[in-house]
Amino acid sequence: MNKHMIAESFAEQSHPDALQEFDRESLENLVAKHETPFMVLDLSEVEYQYKSLQAALPGVKLFYALKALSHPELIKRLKSLGSSFDLATIGEVELVESLGIKGDQCIHSHPIKKDKEIKRALEFGCNRFVVDNIEELRKFIPYAGQVELIMRVSFRNQQAVVDLSRKFGCALEELPVMVDLAQKNGIEVVGLSFHVGSQSLSPMTQVNAVRASVAAMKVMHHVRWKFLDIGGSFPVSYQEAVLPIIDFCAPVMEALGELPEGIEVYAEPGRFIAAPSMIEVISVVGKAKRGAKMWYYMDDGVYGGFSGQMFDHAVYPLAPLKPFDATGEFFSSVLAGPTCDSIDVISEDIELPEMEVGDILIGKQMGAYTIASATEFNYYPKPKVIVVEDIFDPETEAL
Ligand SMILES: Cc1ncc(COP(=O)(O)O)c(C=O)c1O
Repeated sequence: MNKHMIAESFAEQSHPDALQEFDRESLENLVAKHETPFMVLDLSEVEYQYKSLQAALPGVKLFYALKALSHPELIKRLKSLGSSFDLATIGEVELVESLGIKGDQCIHSHPIKKDKEIKRALEFGCNRFVVDNIEELRKFIPYAGQVELIMRVSFRNQQAVVDLSRKFGCALEELPVMVDLAQKNGIEVVGLSFHVGSQSLSPMTQVNAVRASVAAMKVMHHVRWKFLDIGGSFPVSYQEAVLPIIDFCAPVMEALGELPEGIEVYAEPGRFIAAPSMIEVISVVGKAKRGAKMWYYMDDGVYGGFSGQMFDHAVYPLAPLKPFDATGEFFSSVLAGPTCDSIDVISEDIELPEMEVGDILIGKQMGAYTIASATEFNYYPKPKVIVVEDIFDPETEAL
């Protein structure tokens, strides 16, 4: 079985080994060695995801979006695989700089920036910036001749869990005025970009966005287009199975075939590379029967590694470390985080076998937008990240 096809909900899976995709010995050794809560970042999984996406998007240059997970070891592994990087802040610029990455391997994709952010990116050697409105474009007038601009267009997407085009991107009709202003001021416009939303469940918005961008480039033939940036959006399986990446990308590749000769294609994947690369190991600190439900208080929750349940709308698959009796009794339970806030609940209604204090649960697909948005509310430290290779069973890996 390919682990990427697994999308179980704990209550439904009723399989005694809910961790069959892992190398159990490695997992148990980690649990024996480290105090919970902790996250496990598997670099071989980072590599697997990167290669899977590159195979599904042949010829497309991948710029890993640091915002999903910015662990230096992940960045170093991607660098060694030839990845480029998508940056949005001075902090991200300084992180990749400290890891020996060059500015010309990066794009600055935040559509709204302070002047000091433009200056710092240029100082680093990154001269490709995204803009999506006239006001932003004017900020680049002092840098004419030094920068290459990519115009971000909005394509709303009801099939995306996080519809980023609600917040960023101009209408296609606004492009000619922006291009005109840039050209009048000697600023080079070289590309179009879009992000059709994160965790997009269908490729069709991306396909339509490619077609609309190609048409816009052809209409504005007086521009020397060099790039089309198709953003992120590539989905992973949480509770529901999503399309295998090769099938998701096939219609996108077909649409890209309509691009005029010589235009390079960029993508900015975050979630697809980061999410499957990390799990979180948490344990039961306390339990109480409250009404009809059993409440389990875990040592991490939505203020920590599970913060993506609040900000990213993700619900992570959970599995107990100990194999359980699939034919045994399950109880309607609540899984709560450790803080004193009542919003800190990982799952309000989950069917679980009875657990004891000290029992371990594994949260899967927890690499993207998790620790990146974790807080230290109540002075609980963020879970530490243990870096490993090959925690997944090699027999379940199939590129
Ligand atoms: C500009 C930009 N690029 C790339 C990404 C990464 O997107 P995803 O995680 O869907 O691949 C994001 C996510 O917010 C983004 O805002």
